[in-house]
Amino acid sequence: MIKIFIDGRKIEAKENRTVLQAAKKNGIRIPHLCYHPALKPSGSCKLCGVEVVSPGGKPVVMLSCILKVKENLEILTDSELVQAHRKKAFNKLLQMAPDAARIRNLANEWGVAVTPPPDGCIRCRLCIRVCNEIVKSKALKMVTDEKGTRVVPEPGQCIGCGTCANLCPTGLIRIKDQDGVRTVSIKDDIIGQLPLERCEGCGTLYATENFLRHVENSLLSHPDTKEHHHLCPSCIKLLSNRAAAERKRIGK
Ligand code: SF4
Ligand code: FES
Repeated sequence: MIKIFIDGRKIEAKENRTVLQAAKKNGIRIPHLCYHPALKPSGSCKLCGVEVVSPGGKPVVMLSCILKVKENLEILTDSELVQAHRKKAFNKLLQMAPDAARIRNLANEWGVAVTPPPDGCIRCRLCIRVCNEIVKSKALKMVTDEKGTRVVPEPGQCIGCGTCANLCPTGLIRIKDQDGVRTVSIKDDIIGQLPLERCEGCGTLYATENFLRHVENSLLSHPDTKEHHHLCPSCIKLLSNRAAAERKRIGK
């Protein structure tokens, strides 16, 4: 039997065993993902790194799934060096598999702060800018909290125009018209949920009441807007085609 020390505790292990195997046998936990007892170790995930104490020498992190036990080997499983190595290893794995719940849970279990999963937003702020500068509804804002910096709705401000959804380059903001109601949402957060109005021409549900009121109050510089804003885009097109044909007919 070989005698080693893990975190100051004396352990006996059979020759040719790895430090990870010896630790497992003695109930000492070391995170690992790519180790499997039936397979040769590959040292791929790097999570099982431990510090090898070498008196007088430079402390070094080695992979416990590969490192073989040897007489009087001294190992630390949670030193500062190990923690830094572990953090790097977790984040590297999450770069390749950002949604892997098993890796995130393991990191959490080991108290390792990892980068949050991508949420599909590239932080271009187009949605916020158009809503503030053009629509002037201020229905979206950027916040920074424990979940990071992200776009969130400002409750009660959305008029359901859908401009943010049309501009969002990643498709994170969505519009859904169902049962006479328009829902604008960003991921799982609802930005606005508003009833739809019918077109006075064809009866199609086409715009929210709040949006139409907004058009009436703020965008009425052109007389045609005043006249036609209760018509859906198809009916407006039909009307303007007819008007063009009529102008042509009378030679205007
Ligand atoms: S939600 Fe879309 S438009 Fe808004 S900042 Fe993110 S990517 Fe840009
Ligand atoms: S268990 Fe993956 S590198 Fe050791």
